[in-house]
Amino acid sequence: MTLHGWITHLRSSGKVAFAVIRDGTGIAQAVFVKTALPAEVWQRFASLTLETSVMVRGEVRADARAPGGFEISVADLEIIGPSPLDYPIQPKEHGIDFLLDHRHFWLRSNRQRAIFLVRNEIEQAIHDFFYERGFLRIDTPILTAAIGERSGLFETDYFEEGKAYLAQTGQLYGEAAAAAFGKIYTFGPTFRAEKSKTRRHLTEFWMIEPEVAWYDSAANMRLQEDFVSYLVRRALDRCADSLKVLERDVTKLEAVKPPFVRLDYSEAVEIVRQKGSVTTWGEDLGAEDEALIVADYDKPVFVMNYPKQAKAFYMKENPADPRTVLCDDCLAPEGYGEIIGGSQREDDYDRLVRRIKEERLPVDAYDWYLDLRRYGTFVHSGFGLGLERTVAWICGLQHIREAIAFPRMMHRLKP
Ligand code: 4AD
Ligand code: MG
Repeated sequence: MTLHGWITHLRSSGKVAFAVIRDGTGIAQAVFVKTALPAEVWQRFASLTLETSVMVRGEVRADARAPGGFEISVADLEIIGPSPLDYPIQPKEHGIDFLLDHRHFWLRSNRQRAIFLVRNEIEQAIHDFFYERGFLRIDTPILTAAIGERSGLFETDYFEEGKAYLAQTGQLYGEAAAAAFGKIYTFGPTFRAEKSKTRRHLTEFWMIEPEVAWYDSAANMRLQEDFVSYLVRRALDRCADSLKVLERDVTKLEAVKPPFVRLDYSEAVEIVRQKGSVTTWGEDLGAEDEALIVADYDKPVFVMNYPKQAKAFYMKENPADPRTVLCDDCLAPEGYGEIIGGSQREDDYDRLVRRIKEERLPVDAYDWYLDLRRYGTFVHSGFGLGLERTVAWICGLQHIREAIAFPRMMHRLKP
C-alpha cells in the first residue's frame, strides 16, 4: 500500500526503526528494517522529524501490538514536506494559551480528533433528527437589520441602508419560514459581542433553531427533550471510541432520556436561594444558580416561565401569570448549564409592538416581523440549541473553546 501522512512519533534501535504516521483517519506504524532497505531510504528515515509529511510504500498487516493496530513493512519512503525541529507542539505539557495560539497545530492531536468526531456525529444527528420528522432546513441571513437578542451586537456599515448587525439568531426569519413551511430549522453561525470570559461563551457559535407552527410551549419542550436525547444516544452509539479517548463517564450520558425534569422559574429561585444564592425573583439565573439547580438531578432540567423582564421581547406573555412569559431554558446535567433557550412566540400584534417599544428597539426594523402577526397570526414555538455547549457537555470538556475548531472569544481572533 501507499500511505500519505505526517510523522507523529519516531523510534530507532539502529537496525530497526519505527515511524508512527497520522493520515487524518487514524495512525499506522511504519517499520524500517535497515538490511531490507536501499541505503538512501534508510538515510531518509534518519532525517525525519515530527510532522514531516511523507509518503511510504510497503506491505501492510494487522498487528495488535502496533499503535493503530496495523504495521507497514516499508519498502520506500519519500519526504514531501520537511518540518523544522522547532515544531511548536512537543510531547510535553503546554499551557492553554500556547495551545490556542497554535490551534492550527493543536487540532492534529488525538484528543482533538476525538472531539471533532463527536461534533461531526452530533451535526449529522441533528440533520437526521429533523429530516426524519419532516422539518425543512432554512438558511437565514447573517447580515441583519433587526436585533434578535439582548446580548452584545457586532455592527457594520451597510451601504446606504445604515447599520447592519451580525445575526445573534436566525429565529425571526425562522418564524416567517414556519408560517410558510410549517416545521423548519436553521443551522448556522451566530454572533454575540459578549465581553464575558466564561467557560461557556464564544463570540461566534453555531446554533440550531427549529420553529414549529401550531406548537405551544409544552409541545416545544417535548420536542427539545426528544431532540437532546436523540443526540446523546447517537454519540453513545457511534462515538464510543472517541468518548473513551476523552475519558468521558458515559454512565452519566446513559441517563439522558425523556421526560426531563420540569421546574417553574419561581420554584427554581426558591431552590437556589435555599442553597445560598442571592438571586431574587425577577432576575435571570446565572451559571452558579444553574449548577445549583441541576445538582439534584441526573437528567437535564427545564426551567420554565421566566419573568418577562429577564427575557427577550418576542416571548409570549403567560396567560396564567402575565408577569412571566411562556419559555424554557434547558439545563444540561453535571453543571454544564443552559444548552437551549426556547419559547412560545408572542402572536398578538399589539402586545408584540408594546414589548418592542418597552425594550427600546426600533419598531421600523421589525415591520416584516410584525406582518406575521397582522396577516394570519398563528400559535408557534421554537428554540435554539447551542452546538458548542452541547458538544462540550457530551464530550465532558472543561471549556467550550475546545468544542469549535477555531474559537472566537473576546481576546482571540487568531488563528
Ligand atoms: O438563549 P439564546 O440567546 O436564545 C436564542 O437565541 C433564541 N433566539 C433561540 C430560539 O428560541 N430560536 O441562545 C440559545 C442557545 C443557548 O442556550 C446556548 O446554548 C447558546 O445558544 N448560546 C451560546 N453559546 C456559546 N456562546 C455564547 N455566547 C452563547 N449564547 C447563547
Ligand atoms: Mg438563553
